[in-house]
Amino acid sequence: MTPMSPEGSGEPQGGAPVGRWDVGRVRALYPALTDGYAYLDGAAGTQVPQSVIEAIAGAYRDGIGNVGGAFPASGRSEELVAECRRAVADLVGGQPEGVVLGPNMTTLTYRLANALAATWDRGDEVVVSRLDHDANVRPWLQAAARAGAVVRWAEVDLATGELPAGQYEGLVGERTRLVAVSAASNVLGTRPDVAAIAATAHGAGALTYVDGVHATAHGPVDVAALGADFYATSAYKWSGPHVGAVVADPALLETLRPDKLASSSDLVPERFEQGTSPFADFAGVAAALDHLAALDPAAAGTRRQRVLASMAAAEAYELELFGVLLGGLEAMGQVTSYGKAARRTATAYFTVAGRTPRQVAEHLAARRVNVWNGHNYAWELTGALAIRDAGSAVRAGLVHYNSREDVDRLLEGVSELSP
Ligand SMILES: Cc1ncc(COP(=O)(O)O)c(C=O)c1O
Repeated sequence: MTPMSPEGSGEPQGGAPVGRWDVGRVRALYPALTDGYAYLDGAAGTQVPQSVIEAIAGAYRDGIGNVGGAFPASGRSEELVAECRRAVADLVGGQPEGVVLGPNMTTLTYRLANALAATWDRGDEVVVSRLDHDANVRPWLQAAARAGAVVRWAEVDLATGELPAGQYEGLVGERTRLVAVSAASNVLGTRPDVAAIAATAHGAGALTYVDGVHATAHGPVDVAALGADFYATSAYKWSGPHVGAVVADPALLETLRPDKLASSSDLVPERFEQGTSPFADFAGVAAALDHLAALDPAAAGTRRQRVLASMAAAEAYELELFGVLLGGLEAMGQVTSYGKAARRTATAYFTVAGRTPRQVAEHLAARRVNVWNGHNYAWELTGALAIRDAGSAVRAGLVHYNSREDVDRLLEGVSELSP
């Protein structure tokens, strides 16, 4: 864990100290956090540090061009693409040549689903989960329908929010081609045992498509340890710009033939990337990675090693602070909290008796607390929990820059909402 700096703001304003994470040092890197709001909406997108803003502005300042040209500005864009791939690979433990870049996870997942489904036969099977964000469900359902493939569902234990890995033994069979599963739920925070699920999938010769959009921001990631054949992530959830990525073994990508223009590159991973890329934003992705790797100033070694250490320290801090947040919410009689998974991210999902989730969010916004209300695209899960029609719930999530004061402000605001 990070030693507390002499400036000493492991003790955030207005509350007891939380661990030894120097949240004051971290917060000072984020210009947007000075506006007086408690940003508990990180699960919908984080703020970005000054270094990311500078990197994006710097790319434009230096001059960029489209790739493939004979002049230096074009070469600078090519280097930004390469550096962005290296950054994402360092974050999740992949190979730069296997990093497909795109506008966001949803767009890339549709692209991959279509390319994979082209290899499926009628009667093949795909397994999706009721826990997942719809971006890791609907593309597979629609692709399966076109291919004549059968869809099987992994169910959530609604009392706990767990996605029991054991059920995959009964769901995966010799016709299974793909198992799509989330590394963490964006509402309940549940972290399923992806490695066990992947082992079951691989035992039957199926591929895994792991949605790491929520998980990546909340701890170290190792795609090999997860058994993820495809791992999807979005930089805007981890202090970067709105860029998505899917990481896979380049040899696996070579086997797929996505729809593409006749004139565009047929190389991997470019084959999967449509149109002109946001080159300046790619500079921001690389800067976000450098930022994450430096979150724990005591972390040493390669950037991959530093990011693993920093994200482990960030996770420990988030979970400690989350204990305060969840404990405070659950102590209030008017609050119903969803999800009790044994392994989870610092993400609370709750309702308040007598108020709609939107009313709670508006009440909190008036007190300068940013939270989300609604299904947050956890469409199947909120349907299964039978809360979707009533506006679902309120989501308050922590990331590495949230302070004890943010949490106290949330708890105070919710406590004002007596039934
Ligand atoms: C768990 C999860 N999966 C997928 C997505 C979709 O990501 P994107 O906005 O990059 O398409 C989100 C976005 O909130 C998410 O939280």
